[in-house]
Amino acid sequence: AADGGPREYIAAIDQGTTSSRCIVFDRAGTIVGVEQKEHEQILPRPGWVEHDAAEIWANVQEVVAGALAKAGVTRDEVKAIGITNQRETTLLWDRATGRPVHNAIVWQDTRTDAICRDLGRNVGQDRFRRETGLPLASYFAGPKIRWLLDNVEGLRERAERGEILFGTMDSWVIWNLTGGPDGGRHVTDVTNASRTMLMNLRTLDWEERICESMGVPTAVLPEIRSSAEVYGHAKGGPLDGIPVASALGDQQAALFGQTCFAEGEGKSTYGTGTFVLMNTGEKPVNSYAGLLTTVGYRIGDEKPVYALEGAIAVTGSLVQWMRDQMGLISDAAEIEPLARSVDDNGGTYFVPAFSGLFAPYWRSDARGVIAGLTRYVTKAHIARAVLEATAWQTREITDAMHKDSGVELTTLKADGGMTANGLLMQKISDFLDVPVVRPEVTETTCLGAAYAAGLATGFWNSTDELRANWREDHRWEPEMDAADREREYKYWLKTVERTMGWLE
Ligand code: G3P
Repeated sequence: AADGGPREYIAAIDQGTTSSRCIVFDRAGTIVGVEQKEHEQILPRPGWVEHDAAEIWANVQEVVAGALAKAGVTRDEVKAIGITNQRETTLLWDRATGRPVHNAIVWQDTRTDAICRDLGRNVGQDRFRRETGLPLASYFAGPKIRWLLDNVEGLRERAERGEILFGTMDSWVIWNLTGGPDGGRHVTDVTNASRTMLMNLRTLDWEERICESMGVPTAVLPEIRSSAEVYGHAKGGPLDGIPVASALGDQQAALFGQTCFAEGEGKSTYGTGTFVLMNTGEKPVNSYAGLLTTVGYRIGDEKPVYALEGAIAVTGSLVQWMRDQMGLISDAAEIEPLARSVDDNGGTYFVPAFSGLFAPYWRSDARGVIAGLTRYVTKAHIARAVLEATAWQTREITDAMHKDSGVELTTLKADGGMTANGLLMQKISDFLDVPVVRPEVTETTCLGAAYAAGLATGFWNSTDELRANWREDHRWEPEMDAADREREYKYWLKTVERTMGWLE
């Protein structure tokens, strides 16, 4: 190690929406090796998004081996493995063979819209909100399980007989890592479980009556554990015998990696989607402004820490769409120079409601809109509107957080791939009228999973020790005239209105 101490590391696996990666960290929280691999986005129909879980597991194994090789780290030098993952993406697999029974249904997928509407009519929105902290929306895992059981021939009977296992990607990775059909641990952590719509937020246990109304037999469900404890040991592979010691949904992991350990501290992660989470301490705060109440993390037997979350479905994936579907750029990084080649958005606004609208609206019937088009508009203006969409959506979330919690945001801690885009960061600071800060290590998702695994195994002793690793890298100060900001915000909100009601 750089400080001359023992060569000891933590390996974090991030199974994300577009790729799987493994990062090896040392005790200072510095990255010593990274490997990443993209997987296929399967888009069978409008609104549907699937992943091949077998491909994902193969990629996970490959990136673990690759990251260790790049870091020049051997198995014995790895003290623990931490897991983090895209949340809500739903998989059912055969307990005996380990084979998925269907592609995983991705969080962005809206096929369960009708199931959610029926549940709303028959059971009621309020009941789900009260017990699970979530609004009825196609985003969450429970309705996706229901869809699979209803649509895959013979699956419900097999599930009831105990032959089928459900998991979000944390469970899938841990089960495979710890032996698969040969003794794999079927577990999930509280943060991932809090996104199923099946867990009671206060007892942190599966809520049987909710499972029943959702039509999900409890036999398929994993055991809910804390976010930081040893679930089992890796069996076979390059990390054979190493403890698997943490699991957190990726956004909760980023909250942890940004060391938001105190009430009122929060972060915003700019990836495929964008997710703003604020630590609200040991009590869940109900949202009346369209946010989610979720578990932030739970360290072993300690009390759980809750969070308020604003989820935006489409941000980075809009840039990918510009590249892959529209061919307006050939590389995601081109969006910034293209947007900078003009002074403003030319009057255009782009609300990318591709998966409906998430927070604060929760409208599965919304679809994307570009408004304000004239003959004057070029692709550079659209590129600007694309970046501004991410910034306006962040503003809507922070406004809602203020309403729900009364806490006034003073700075925004940002991370994720899109924070490399300086124009975007400036726009966020302008639209929110607060400074935006980016830490040195922007891989906060993996870092958070590594921190939790390190705390569970005594590699790190306290959260104070972790705080000392957080260092500011860059800060953007607001520069926008207040009257301009409010005028443009009105146009944005007007465009949002135009997105709704497309499935009537
Ligand atoms: O809730 C979905 C979220 O966990 C996905 O995150 O970074 O894979 O887009 P990401």
